[in-house]
Amino acid sequence: MKILVTGGAGFIGSAVIRYIIGHTQDSVVNVDKLTYAGNLESLASVAADPRYVFERADICDAPAMAQIFKQHQPDIVMHLAAESHVDRSIDGPADFIETNVVGTLVLLEAARQYVEESGKKNFRFHHISTDEVYGDLEGDTDLFTEETSYAPSSPYSASKASSDHLVRAWGRTYGLPCVITNCSNNYGPYHFPEKLIPHMILNALSGKALPVYGDGKQIRDWLYVEDHAEALYKVATKGKIGETYNIGGHNEKQNIEVVHTLCDLLEELAADKKPEGVSAYKDLITFVKDRPGHDRRYAIDASKIENKLGWTPKETFETGLRKTVQWYLDNEKWWSRVLSGDYKLERIGEGQKDLKEQKYGS
Ligand SMILES: NC(=O)c1ccc[n+]([C@@H]2O[C@H](COP(=O)([O-])OP(=O)(O)OC[C@H]3O[C@@H](n4cnc5c(N)ncnc54)[C@H](O)[C@@H]3O)[C@@H](O)[C@H]2O)c1
Repeated sequence: MKILVTGGAGFIGSAVIRYIIGHTQDSVVNVDKLTYAGNLESLASVAADPRYVFERADICDAPAMAQIFKQHQPDIVMHLAAESHVDRSIDGPADFIETNVVGTLVLLEAARQYVEESGKKNFRFHHISTDEVYGDLEGDTDLFTEETSYAPSSPYSASKASSDHLVRAWGRTYGLPCVITNCSNNYGPYHFPEKLIPHMILNALSGKALPVYGDGKQIRDWLYVEDHAEALYKVATKGKIGETYNIGGHNEKQNIEVVHTLCDLLEELAADKKPEGVSAYKDLITFVKDRPGHDRRYAIDASKIENKLGWTPKETFETGLRKTVQWYLDNEKWWSRVLSGDYKLERIGEGQKDLKEQKYGS
């Protein structure tokens, strides 16, 4: 099969592509605009494989999408391209509406036209979404199921909720064969350093404050990214058309617990890397003003994907977090090039000089 992955240079998309090339015989077309979050260095291990092709394109560009469908004739679309960081959506929501809503519309229309014109049989459109569309859980024990009503709280989750609705409508109205997944927080290798776990690891290693929002008691359900990639491939290839599957890791943790566990792991694995003047990594923890509209608790009921498709996560939070910390310790080259902005250098030759200026700053 040929699988068109959008957003394949991002954190989860690159894990999906590494999974497909490493574990299946399928080929991949990676369609990515390379925003600040796209990093081709996360795909170095598969870039030379003849089953892998990269197309730099914006999913909002309708003629480009039509051309890519026509040229590559995919059997499956796995749509991950998105603006994904909640804090950025609060500072600038328009990009989130453009990419997540308009971009999904453009891609749905390109897919619909492609299926109509090519007569492609057994085509599937898999939309990858988040548990944040369900909003906040009130109690300590209730869980998001596939029937939970949507109640997004942030511009990011509202844009993802909108795109989910579009996908469902294109399935019902036009008969486009669609599946949707809603997943909890991912963590693991190649995670952009603005997100909680890598941000804490890298700040700790450089002796900077570990900023925790509010009282740190917000609860998230954490899933190791490689487990997510495997679940996504299962849904893309075996999921029932028209259905939604929730994906979660059975790892509900308060943010402050996550930061404490990271500090413990760093004490064990990186005692020799402790910056001067730091006696314990935990001493760097600092509570900062809470994020506006911050949801208190997310938790996923993943029984449907377990029962119907036989998927369960392989990693526990303890094993996955240990692997993640070790990966950041072993892969300084990858993250130091992200922090310096040098991961964008290869684009400069393409007349993208401005990208180098948009350096990531912690
Ligand atoms: N990270 C999580 O914990 C999580 C959890 C559940 C669901 N999701 C969803 O999974 C998907 C991937 O998340 P991620 O964390 O890998 O995101 P990411 O921000 O790391 O990567 C997004 C990728 O999309 C690309 N992109 C952005 N705008 C584009 C456009 N207009 N055209 C083409 N490419 C574009 C970027 O260059 C980047 O490579 C998103 O749809 C997100 O909503 C993420």
